[in-house]
Amino acid sequence: MCGIIGYVGSENAVPIIVDGLKKLEYRGYDSAGIAVYGRGGFDVVKQEGRLEALEARLAGSPLSGNMGIGHTRWATHGEPSDINSHPHVGSKNKIAVVHNGIIENYKQIKERLEQRGVRFASQTDSEAIAQLAEYYYDGDIMDTVIRVAGRLEGSYALGIMCLDEPDTLIAVKKDNPLIVGVSEHGRFIASDVPAVLKHTNKVYYLNDMEIAVLREGDARFFNFDKEPLEKTPETVTWSLDGAEKGGYPHFMLKEIMEQPKILRDTISSSMTGSNGDIIDGMDAARFGKVVITACGSAYNAGVVAKYVFERLCRISVEVELASEFRYKDAVIDEKTLVILVSQSGETADTIAAMREAKSKGAFTLSIVNVVGSTIAKEADRCLFTAAGPEIAVATTKAFSAQLVILYILAVRFAARLGKVPPGREREMLSEIESLPAKITEILRQVDSIQKYASTCVGYKNIFFIGRNIDYAIALEGSLKLKEISYIHSEAYAGGELKHGTISLIEDETLVVAIANCERLYGKIMSNVEQVISRGAKVLLIGSCLGAEPDGKLYRIILPESGDLFSPSLSVVALQLFSYYVAANKGLDIDKPRNLAKSVTVE
Ligand code: M6R
Repeated sequence: MCGIIGYVGSENAVPIIVDGLKKLEYRGYDSAGIAVYGRGGFDVVKQEGRLEALEARLAGSPLSGNMGIGHTRWATHGEPSDINSHPHVGSKNKIAVVHNGIIENYKQIKERLEQRGVRFASQTDSEAIAQLAEYYYDGDIMDTVIRVAGRLEGSYALGIMCLDEPDTLIAVKKDNPLIVGVSEHGRFIASDVPAVLKHTNKVYYLNDMEIAVLREGDARFFNFDKEPLEKTPETVTWSLDGAEKGGYPHFMLKEIMEQPKILRDTISSSMTGSNGDIIDGMDAARFGKVVITACGSAYNAGVVAKYVFERLCRISVEVELASEFRYKDAVIDEKTLVILVSQSGETADTIAAMREAKSKGAFTLSIVNVVGSTIAKEADRCLFTAAGPEIAVATTKAFSAQLVILYILAVRFAARLGKVPPGREREMLSEIESLPAKITEILRQVDSIQKYASTCVGYKNIFFIGRNIDYAIALEGSLKLKEISYIHSEAYAGGELKHGTISLIEDETLVVAIANCERLYGKIMSNVEQVISRGAKVLLIGSCLGAEPDGKLYRIILPESGDLFSPSLSVVALQLFSYYVAANKGLDIDKPRNLAKSVTVE
């Protein structure tokens, strides 16, 4: 839930670390800090608030050194404050640590150390790592790291500096991501590739229980028996442009606008390219049911996919929140296909769900954006979305890429099962291929959507309704709006309104109705009339829109498409609507309050 970075090399570590933290700020942004190995030992600056606050402190009292570690925090243990920020340095000032993850047994460690006279400064779980390391340290930092790792329960990616090793940066991880970058002038560690991409595209993906020992011209890897490991660096093919705003006011808007290209890339990699034959290695006929499990927007992609799979493959599909699935003793076996959907590939609940599914013998297929992530590596098969780095906390392009992979998977699956004839399979695949051009048409409506959204900032409640697959995408519309605009919103199946929700409809309520299912158009329009007659205003989004706009009803007309793949079109209108409501409220759209991009804790 936090971002960590470290550098050792011939250059001043401070600007490298601060710049890297900017690329990691999406992972947490309530406080930040940096420690460098300066002339007299560790120089540490920690600051509550956004990274700019840390930069201002550094401008007032500049640091320098050829080795350093930095951290951007999303608080879990202890409020956001200077003292709780990382890096944490043990009380003997010997070992400095940055940590991403959660140490579940930190209280026991802390109590034991306090009984032995160690004084803790912060309320964090992470300080226990630095204090424990100092307690164990006997002159061999690798031994110390191995001993500490053996005591820690929970998850961690750690960057470590030791006072006795002025030119050696150590890293180790378990269940949280960590990469090692290699450039001509030094070595890096980071939670994510964009943090080092300015300096290098050569990275090693560290595995759990591997230790990296880095010096200016040297990167070595060891297991916990101190045996050297042979690792091969990978070349990152995407460029830094993906991690820059490129002239847009927010990453979110840039990422919305990128969607036609992202979809083209994802579709081609999933039809003929790097994802291979999308159903390779899977015996479609073996599966008695499909379970899709994920969190947040990725879960919503799963709900859309349920409608597509069931309609095309005539197979039963369950969609489960990963946080529920992992604890419910799911009824699955070797005949179950479990699909994990995750942009980051590091969401703690989704990782746990995957491991639960594997332990029960199910075949696990992941749909992931981040190469080298835990879910990508551990699932039986992984299909990559070609979304590139997604920086805004609110997902847009990665969600859209997940949808198209799920569509293609469903179509190919249905064909393999003999549920659709080859001609229809080809037709559907070309319908999917036509989505990027249709999205471009929707993006051309940006000005009118912006204008309409500017009239919606005052609503206290916004409801999203739809039927069938339109209901599935209404869930995502509602999530998008609430996470960035802080307006209360809920999504309902249109038919459910009369069972309770309609009592909430009054003047000054906005209802966003999605209408792409031709056969259910009359039904959703009855719902629209019911809410209008109770005082609501309506934003109607869809391709089958007979109703004429008036003072009560505004329309966003989508290009014609069958209803099956229409969520890919509706969602773009919904994203733009949410974005502009939040922008008109002047909110920090890319970093909404209390959220982080990658939820690596429970
Ligand atoms: O990285 P993941 O796709 O596993 O993340 C899942 C959710 O945390 C994520 O979709 C979250 O809901 C986003 N903030 C939605 O915009």
